[in-house]
Amino acid sequence: MRKIDPANAAAADVYKLMIGIIVPRPIAFVSTVDGAGLRNLAPFSYFTGCSTNPPVVCFCAAVREGPQPQKDTLENIQATGEFVVNVVSEEIAEQMNACSAEVPPEVDEFALSGLTPIESDLVKPPRVAESKIQMECRLRQVIRVSDKPGGGNLVLGDVLRFHVQESVLLGDYKIDPDALRAIGRMGGPTYARTRDRFVMERPKQR
Ligand SMILES: Cc1cc2nc3c(=O)[nH]c(=O)nc-3n(C[C@H](O)[C@H](O)[C@H](O)COP(=O)(O)O)c2cc1C
Repeated sequence: MRKIDPANAAAADVYKLMIGIIVPRPIAFVSTVDGAGLRNLAPFSYFTGCSTNPPVVCFCAAVREGPQPQKDTLENIQATGEFVVNVVSEEIAEQMNACSAEVPPEVDEFALSGLTPIESDLVKPPRVAESKIQMECRLRQVIRVSDKPGGGNLVLGDVLRFHVQESVLLGDYKIDPDALRAIGRMGGPTYARTRDRFVMERPKQR
């Protein structure tokens, strides 16, 4: 076994290690608006749910190297207290990737990618029409883990409303993974599909 102590490794190498270890990661495709209403859309794969009652999701916006350390997404969420998490399926993988370009805040990634903004019901940021599931969220808390480049800002948001396309629903609440075709991010530019699965029942409760 190789022993690796992060204290003795470059941040870029620790990043490589972590995105190879924590796999596959679901992708939060986060739409926001700034104080003037300008749209922003970007993918974040340090993403998960962290409470179901109430429903809370969280993702991490990293600190950038250079003069603009804070990502536009985080800037916007702190200004407005709102965001939408759009689920990424195979059909919109290319457009999602296009939205990860490091472009200035005034660039609208909906226009950049060709994705369609549609109004949300309860929050200002628009949803991505092509995404099969969208979650309207209100900011609960930002936890700033570190100010150093590569440091994380953990954003927690309460889900106010789920929008689920009928085509991915089995009954009222069950999601059909074959219809959703969600993708996950692996290390580097590699992605995983969610088509190869197996079933394992949990042990009986005592
Ligand atoms: C699939 C994928 C996952 C990503 N995950 C993250 C992430 O978890 N945290 C992060 O800070 N950046 C992540 N990025 C990079 C951001 O999308 C990128 O920095 C983007 O330009 C940020 O946009 P913004 O400045 O408009 O918020 C990811 C990129 C891709 C393609």
